[in-house]
Amino acid sequence: MQNYIIFIISVLYFFSCSKAQETISEKESLKDKKVLIFYLSRTKNTKTIAEIIQKNVGGDLVELELQNPYPENYKAIVDQVSKENESAFLPPLKTKIENIEKYDIVFIGFPTWGMKLPPPMKSFLKQNDLKGKTIIPFNTNAGYGVGSSFDTVKELSPESKVLEGFKMKGGVERDGILFVMEGKKKTEAEKKVREWLTKIGLNKTK
Ligand SMILES: Cc1cc2nc3c(=O)[nH]c(=O)nc-3n(C[C@H](O)[C@H](O)[C@H](O)COP(=O)(O)O)c2cc1C
Repeated sequence: MQNYIIFIISVLYFFSCSKAQETISEKESLKDKKVLIFYLSRTKNTKTIAEIIQKNVGGDLVELELQNPYPENYKAIVDQVSKENESAFLPPLKTKIENIEKYDIVFIGFPTWGMKLPPPMKSFLKQNDLKGKTIIPFNTNAGYGVGSSFDTVKELSPESKVLEGFKMKGGVERDGILFVMEGKKKTEAEKKVREWLTKIGLNKTK
C-alpha cells in the first residue's frame, strides 16, 4: 500500500513538472516571435481590444485604412457593405504592411458586419501571403456574434494555422450606441482578453 502511494505521488510529480516546462517553453517561444496586430475599427471598440492585446503580447499595432473610406452614415455603410458582399468586391486598402514575411503571428481584428467578415479584411487576407504563419482573429459585435467571419478567415488562409478567436459585445451602432469600451466595460475586456490569451498560450505579462 505504501509503495502504491509513493508510486502515485511520483506520477503526479512527474506530470506537474512536465506541465510547468510546457508553459515556460511557450513563453520562450513567444519571445522569439514577431507579432503583428492588424485591425479594422469604425467606432473604436475593436481598436480597444487590439490595444489590450498589444499591452499583453507586444508587437506592432497597425490600423487598416481604406483608399476610399466608408460613409459616416450608418444606413449608407450597411447598404454599401451588403452590395460589396453580393458582388465579392474587394475594397482597395491604403495601408500596406512592409515586409509582412517577417511576422510569425498575425492577430486580425474586425467588427461583425452583416454577420460576415468585413470586405476590407477579405482584401487584406487575399492580398497578403500569410502562408505558414499563425493567424489569430478577434472581434467585437452588437451582440449577434461573429456570424461567418471566423470561418471566412480560415477559408481565406488555408495554409496558415488559425487559432481560437476572441469575441465580445461592443457597440450597437444601429441603436446609436457607438464606443462602449471604457470604465467597467474596458476592465471586463482586459480580463477576458487576458484569459483568452492564457488559454491559447500567448500571455507574456501573466
Ligand atoms: C455596416 C455595419 C454592419 C454591422 N452588422 C452587424 C451584424 O451583422 N451583427 C452584429 O452583431 N453587429 C453588427 N454591427 C455592429 C458592430 O459589429 C459593433 O458595433 C462593433 O462593436 C463595432 O466595432 P468597431 O467599434 O471596432 O467599429 C454592424 C456595424 C456596422 C457599421
